[in-house]
Amino acid sequence: MKLSKAQIEQFDRDGYLFFPGLFTPEETQNLNAAVPELYARREAYNVREKGKDAVRTNFAAHLYSEPFAKLARHPRMIEPVQALFGEKLYMHQFKINGKMAFEGDVWQWHQDYGTWLNDDHMPTERAMNVAIFLDDVNEYNGPLMFIPGSHRKGVVEAKHDLTTTSYPLWTVDNDLIRQLVTRAGGKDGGIVSPKGPAGSMILFHSCLVHASSSNLSPFNRVSVYLSLCAVSNHIRRYKRPEYIAHRDFTPIECLPDDCLLKPYPVDLPWKDGMPASALQTSLEELAEVAA
Ligand code: SIN
Ligand code: MN
Repeated sequence: MKLSKAQIEQFDRDGYLFFPGLFTPEETQNLNAAVPELYARREAYNVREKGKDAVRTNFAAHLYSEPFAKLARHPRMIEPVQALFGEKLYMHQFKINGKMAFEGDVWQWHQDYGTWLNDDHMPTERAMNVAIFLDDVNEYNGPLMFIPGSHRKGVVEAKHDLTTTSYPLWTVDNDLIRQLVTRAGGKDGGIVSPKGPAGSMILFHSCLVHASSSNLSPFNRVSVYLSLCAVSNHIRRYKRPEYIAHRDFTPIECLPDDCLLKPYPVDLPWKDGMPASALQTSLEELAEVAA
């Protein structure tokens, strides 16, 4: 898939592009069908909501689930980002976020690159998020919210929030959010939330400030997020376990466009379980050396 000049200009201005219904129901059905079994696994890669059994985020399914391994190589997701960066990409992070009916908790205001810089020492912001909805997203089930144009601020100040939810995040404080929203148009377009059917896709800049509220509705809001990083911009520190921040910088090779409808061979290196090394962090290794 190729972005037009107008789309590239829109992306540069707003920091995101929305493609409603880009994948058909036939294409998403095998992805959807695989989620309950993945979420049922009692594995470190399933982070559950604080005090609850509902899964907040499943990590790295592209390494052990066939449908998601194919999605991770889909040209509709990879090619536009590769063209924008003029370089091959590797998978920095792969998530299936639940935001389950009644249980899905908030994602505080943040920039993803803030976390990738602070925790993973990713050198620059040459990394992109691609979201694909596996459920319809509406105003009730905690849609993503963006502050358009906020990516043009670069990296903004953030604090490490280890308590609000079950997942640590570098978050932006309310005063700065107020300023950014005012600058983006206040009540008139200062916050947007792309909504649409399952199969919709969003590309968004790694410095775009975003958040989502809790899901009090009876509708799940399962979405997949690929965080694609230019190979030359790979992370320099392994502070987080490998199932969260990947250490394999091999360039992604795309499958054909019909890969979600037909069988294609894919590598599933963690099919029989995660290697112990995927749980290790460089800080632990340093501690071991010191001991
Ligand atoms: C994220 O920011 O990584 C996830 C936000 C969401 O799923 O609402
Ligand atoms: Mn994020």
